[in-house]
Amino acid sequence: MHFELSEEQQMIRQAARDFAQTELKPGVIERDEHQKFPAEQIKKLGELGFLGMMVAPEYGGSGLDAVSYVLVMEELSKIDASASVVVSVNNSLVCYGLEKYGSEEQKQKYLVALAKGEVIGAFCLSEPEAGSDATSQRTTAIDMGDHYLLNGTKNWITNGNSASTYIVIAQTDASKKHHGINAFIVEKGLDGFTIGPKENKMGIRGSDTHSLMFNDVKVPKENRIGEDGFGFKFAMNVLEGGRIGIAAQALGIAAGAHELAVDYAKQRTAFGKPISNLQAIQFKLADMATEIEAARLLCYRAAWLKDTHQPYGKASAMAKLFASKVAMDTTIEAVQVHGGYGFVKEYHVERLMRDAKITQIYEGTSEIQKIVISREVLK
Ligand code: CAA
Repeated sequence: MHFELSEEQQMIRQAARDFAQTELKPGVIERDEHQKFPAEQIKKLGELGFLGMMVAPEYGGSGLDAVSYVLVMEELSKIDASASVVVSVNNSLVCYGLEKYGSEEQKQKYLVALAKGEVIGAFCLSEPEAGSDATSQRTTAIDMGDHYLLNGTKNWITNGNSASTYIVIAQTDASKKHHGINAFIVEKGLDGFTIGPKENKMGIRGSDTHSLMFNDVKVPKENRIGEDGFGFKFAMNVLEGGRIGIAAQALGIAAGAHELAVDYAKQRTAFGKPISNLQAIQFKLADMATEIEAARLLCYRAAWLKDTHQPYGKASAMAKLFASKVAMDTTIEAVQVHGGYGFVKEYHVERLMRDAKITQIYEGTSEIQKIVISREVLK
């Protein structure tokens, strides 16, 4: 066992760190305030190859490993989780699913552009009444011979408006329960496909989260992913990798808040000395550093299991469960270290605290992660 990153991995981490400082940091407060999608920044991330990081070069990707993906997600999320969630969804939920399970035609038609970052994708599973209980899909896709007729509503869709390619999970035969669920590639602009208003969120306010409405949308038959009835397994499998991305996002939010707290503690004086000299502050910083390191190791391990083609569902759920709690705990403490300054926007740390919360909710709540883990533990 060794804990060293390769030279290539270190270079990729540095590139992401530089990008976060020079391209994401300026304007991040304004984008959060005005709920502005980081379109320019996402375009540049695409040009750098960060939107199709793990996709093979023959399909327009960078052909990197999942550990590199974790490194990039951590660095981007230290500064702007609204941008990093786009990177996560595009890489893990959209590109990965298409590369692993899509047909050659689907890969050529959709994956190449997604992996190059020329367009971005969205993953549409959640519904008004099917979030955690993913088998209870109400969206229907009726087989009409040469196409499916799609009807229903999807909720909380990340990249809801900015995406061009949507992977939509729908029920094709309710009598078969989860074996009657399928995944479809749906293009923006099809007749009957409408996008609801942007959600006004507590955190990751720059990312665009929308409801999507499908009213008799004709989806070509060849846009179904995999064999008939494969959609639920497809979604579960894709989410296993997605949880590594969100775990790394949570890790980055925590690490970003910790860095801010350390810097602030060194320059802020109280009682005649920097507050970093006070044991009350030192103990907070030490606890944060230890928990962040543990979260980082869980993220690396889940990514390494994926890279070495071993089962990683339990490991990714553990990484997400733990890292998202660390993100929440660390950001609250980082605000506390900042005192009153932590409560105002210019100091960045209140935004990280608001952004942290979603990591305990999306791609499966913490309770869902515990279900996944306990099932494995009790096997
Ligand atoms: N890989 C492949 N197949 C899997 C699987 C996996 N990881 N997990 C389960 N399955 C299969 C099972 O083998 C089973 O198939 P068979 O009947 O053929 O054996 C089938 O799926 C049903 O499994 P379960 O009985 O375990 O299903 P369940 O109803 O008990 O649900 C669950 C399990 C873990 C709770 C699941 O519903 C779940 O993960 N829910 C959360 C969904 C989620 O994460 N939603 C977030 C939305 S996406 C998002 O947030 C994206 C974004 O915008 C950022």
